[in-house]
Amino acid sequence: MAILFIPGKFESPFWIKELKKIDPGLDIRTLPDVGNPADIDFALVWYYPKGELLKYPNLKCISSMGAGVDNILSDPQLPSGVHIVRVVDPLLVRDMSQYIIWAVLNFTRNIDKYRDQQIKKIWQPHQPNNELSIGIMGLGQLGHDATHKLIQLGFHINGWSRHKKEITGAHCFCGESEFKQFLEQTHILVNLLPLTPSTRGILNQKTFFMLPKGAYIINVGRGGHLVDDDLISAITQGHIAGACLDVFHQEPLPSDHPFWTQPNIIVTPHVASVTNAKSVAAQVVENYHRLLAGKPLLNEVNLQQGY
Ligand code: NDP
Ligand code: OXD
Repeated sequence: MAILFIPGKFESPFWIKELKKIDPGLDIRTLPDVGNPADIDFALVWYYPKGELLKYPNLKCISSMGAGVDNILSDPQLPSGVHIVRVVDPLLVRDMSQYIIWAVLNFTRNIDKYRDQQIKKIWQPHQPNNELSIGIMGLGQLGHDATHKLIQLGFHINGWSRHKKEITGAHCFCGESEFKQFLEQTHILVNLLPLTPSTRGILNQKTFFMLPKGAYIINVGRGGHLVDDDLISAITQGHIAGACLDVFHQEPLPSDHPFWTQPNIIVTPHVASVTNAKSVAAQVVENYHRLLAGKPLLNEVNLQQGY
């Protein structure tokens, strides 16, 4: 019995130290020296080589190191009959809300304009856009918290999810039939959806042109939600005012990508909320122990839904 650990962008020794603090007896293996593949019954992964997990005949559970599982579910050679779990963590939730609040205030309080003016020593006040409505796509662990915190800051919030939600102080929409209505009342669109076949490419030309003119986009979901050329074109046509983007089709964002040089686009390197190993190690180890004991797992992904 052993854990296969494929950390992707995360720092490996730090994670192993945190996992072993919880259970010093864990047998944690990393690529390429995995030993006998038959020993592996649990895999803790971020981005990993597609097909890799087929090599372990006794694998029973794959745990994502982050909230998203698109990195796992997009593996065409994903072993079947294996549990998939993800991370749900208060620090991940807190950090995402902080990022979204920063991105919203940066836009509504014209901070980028003031930075530009400062370089030119221009003293020119602008009207703050405090009355703009914010539309949150995805009212799960992250979207729910961001909604509450933005309401507390005095913003009007519209939320959109698959199933109808009741959130005091927010106007909640659901499903494709209410998508247009949701967009028409949204000036700042925040994407916090998981990447699934039904959400891929959802930030496209049609979506942008259902938003009021001058709307702003914050994409913290996944790069695959956004049709890059449609965003550039909607900005160039003056329909979309700009965007704050944290996630991209290809990461790192290639140096020749037009987003780097678009004046109205802010690029951050997938840091809106980064999993904290100290904070999540206990739940990963708990899931491993539950698996060994044949108990129900925490934060199991619904494979039918894809999130
Ligand atoms: P959850 O699974 O808790 O929530 C997902 C939400 O999306 C739910 O409200 C769900 O609706 C809604 N949803 C899913 N599919 C659809 C659809 N087709 N139409 C409408 N609504 C839909 O996820 P989290 O909040 O934990 O995380 C969301 C995503 O954020 C992750 O998958 C990841 O991609 C991204 N993320 C990005 C990070 C970053 O640093 N940039 C960090 C962490 C996460 P319902 O409630 O009705 O089921
Ligand atoms: C995540 C992420 O899904 O970091 O947790 O994007």
